Amino acid sequence: MDPELGHNRALWTLLNHCYTADAAMHMWQRDGIRWGLFGVPDFVLPSLDGRAVVELGAGTAFFSAALARAGAQPIAIDLNEDQLATARNCQLETGIRFPLIQADAQAVPLAGGRADLVVSEHGASVWCDPWRWLPEAARLLKPGGLLVFLVNSVLSTLCAPDTGPATPHLVRAHGDLGRMTFDGIEYHPSHSEWIAALTAAGFAVEALHELTAPADAPDHEFYEIADVPWAQRWPAEDLWVARRVGS
Ligand SMILES: C[S@@+](CC[C@H](N)C(=O)[O-])C[C@H]1O[C@@H](n2cnc3c(N)ncnc32)[C@H](O)[C@@H]1O
Repeated sequence: MDPELGHNRALWTLLNHCYTADAAMHMWQRDGIRWGLFGVPDFVLPSLDGRAVVELGAGTAFFSAALARAGAQPIAIDLNEDQLATARNCQLETGIRFPLIQADAQAVPLAGGRADLVVSEHGASVWCDPWRWLPEAARLLKPGGLLVFLVNSVLSTLCAPDTGPATPHLVRAHGDLGRMTFDGIEYHPSHSEWIAALTAAGFAVEALHELTAPADAPDHEFYEIADVPWAQRWPAEDLWVARRVGS
């Protein structure tokens, strides 16, 4: 296995203990489709009824579960067996069933041209090289299909030290963006690199939504990206919407 994949897979085996059965079940039982740290209600997805969806880097697959409840037919892809085992238990408890496939999001063992929608919520979008996973997302989509993915905002990455959440100051150079090594290997490209990689993979960018925390946002458990007061002043997450062009 590619050393980078092996490294990130082992890291997620270590991190898996944060994603307890109870925490995963809590996420599976949330109402509606919600994005990111602060559970922002979805405002970008099209009608999902009967739509074929692939989630890349699904983790415990709570996002796919919400899509399934909304009528979609998701397939959840993740590199890590422990995360998928938690997802499998949630399926048994909730009765919400869809395929869970252990695979690299940069080489998905599914036929191309079948998906109406590809999504990634802090999954492949953060943990894979955009120059590798975006072409794979394009391959999976039907022409005209939609790609929607959520990542750390560029601003939060520039304001975050090596450990801990974003500060009110710029602590990195813009040139440091891109492939970054923390406990794992992550990708935090600049906006211009996202646009270049999306365009090269055959996508037309439709929107970039910069998500802030709602005024009444509760604190969150899993991520160090930004705390609530920071995220109420500045966007902590970037939500990209792009359409696969061509035939
Ligand atoms: C933060 S979780 C994202 C899932 C979920 N939406 C969430 O926010 O918890 C990141 C997931 O990406 C997965 N991942 C990392 N590299 C991957 C790769 N190359 N292919 C597929 N999944 C990958 C990890 O195993 C982990 O489950």
